[in-house]
Amino acid sequence: MTMKLSSSHMDNIPSTPGKFKMEKSPYIYRFRHYSSLAKLTFWSFVFLGLIVVFFFKTPSTSPPNSMPSDLSRRSLKTSSWGGPAWEKRVRSSARIRSQNGLSVLVTGAAGFVGTHVSAALKRRGDGVLGLDNFNNYYDPTLKRARQALLERSGIYIVEGDINDIALLKKLFEVIPFTHVMHLAAQAGVRYAMENPNSYVHSNIAGLVNVLEVCKNANPQPAIVWASSSSVYGLNSKVPFSEKDRTDQPASLYAATKKAGEEIAHTYNHIYGLSLTGLRFFTVYGPWGRPDMAYFFFTRDILKGKSIPIFEASNHGTVARDFTYIDDIVKGCLGALDTAEKSTGSGGKKKGPAQLRVFNLGNTSPVPVSDLVSILEKLLKVKAKRMVMKLPRNGDVQFTHANISFAQREFGYKPTTDLQTGLKKFVRWYVSYYGSGKKSSH
Ligand SMILES: NC(=O)c1ccc[n+]([C@@H]2O[C@H](COP(=O)([O-])OP(=O)(O)OC[C@H]3O[C@@H](n4cnc5c(N)ncnc54)[C@H](O)[C@@H]3O)[C@@H](O)[C@H]2O)c1
Repeated sequence: MTMKLSSSHMDNIPSTPGKFKMEKSPYIYRFRHYSSLAKLTFWSFVFLGLIVVFFFKTPSTSPPNSMPSDLSRRSLKTSSWGGPAWEKRVRSSARIRSQNGLSVLVTGAAGFVGTHVSAALKRRGDGVLGLDNFNNYYDPTLKRARQALLERSGIYIVEGDINDIALLKKLFEVIPFTHVMHLAAQAGVRYAMENPNSYVHSNIAGLVNVLEVCKNANPQPAIVWASSSSVYGLNSKVPFSEKDRTDQPASLYAATKKAGEEIAHTYNHIYGLSLTGLRFFTVYGPWGRPDMAYFFFTRDILKGKSIPIFEASNHGTVARDFTYIDDIVKGCLGALDTAEKSTGSGGKKKGPAQLRVFNLGNTSPVPVSDLVSILEKLLKVKAKRMVMKLPRNGDVQFTHANISFAQREFGYKPTTDLQTGLKKFVRWYVSYYGSGKKSSH
């Protein structure tokens, strides 16, 4: 992901302040030449000094979405926001249209899961406002296409970074959100070796920023946010239960999600924020993420390119608990609907608040080689398989969810098997990209 730095207030200072032209005066020659010259030099320095002081003391004329803190310089590109027309759009998108509906700020709304969750909330009459920075970790035109899709159902995605505290505060001033569905994050396991700071920026600094704004909001919203099955790391007890150890992350991505869970605990404990973390297990489906195996396998099989199939040591099978997007959406809505109110106000806790973590998986891990066989049948193309050893760059050998807690709390029950879900994905893929000619990157 290339980070485009937003211009800081320092950029507004001219590089050559106080340039001026000295003109010779006839008086200079009438008085004592040397002392006049010394006086002139002295006053010129005073004048220059005053100009410099003036520029450094004057408040910057930075746009309303820039921040005074260091983070503003780290923020990804944010387009302008604010003004009556903008506020009107925000209000209209967040308007609740059903009795007892929620008003939800969905961060990462142009992302894969964010798009589906936003659409589902809107369909049942909740008010939804999206927020996304449209970064180019993967093809931003896919994010724009998702945005266009949401726009058609009346959902506005504000373009901005979750690190932009002024923007977040403004959103809460305009809308007293009852819930925040926080999905914005730097996803992907392997990219962490290329750009580790993007994980810290979005998954740690960004999360803290969101929680800071939520804690100060009146009323405080309830927050449901995306953790990840990757927090189980090297845990080998199966199926993974929420009670299992999560202190052996195998990637920086996993470590930032685990840190998020600890940060959530802190904000719940100190400020009374109601917080629910969802550990998603390999989500797939239409409008999915091009960096995920099922997606780029499809692209590469269609292009006749070979695909890497990893195996663990001793020819061990690599398997994933693939979870179809509609099942994940049901889980997200269930978590939102059962989230209790936050208990703080004015930035202070008034009583104990809800703190939860749920696995959202499919409970049936499938070997990656089986995933490829299903794709071959659906695409009617034989894959060129390249069996390789699983590199130690973040991926774990298998994931397998125990979902009984989510089942008990909000009736979570995945209903789509991999064959059925991939069929829907392939249908979407071919209609969106064509059957091989158009590139998905
Ligand atoms: N898809 C999966 O299999 C999976 C598995 C486990 C966890 N998750 C988590 O679920 C969430 C959603 O994942 P996804 O698959 O939809 O990923 P995604 O990359 O498609 O969506 C994330 C969205 O957040 C936006 N974003 C990133 N950093 C931002 C920032 N600083 N400010 C504003 N917007 C920002 C991105 O532009 C993107 O549109 C993420 O938190 C991810 O870590 C996903």
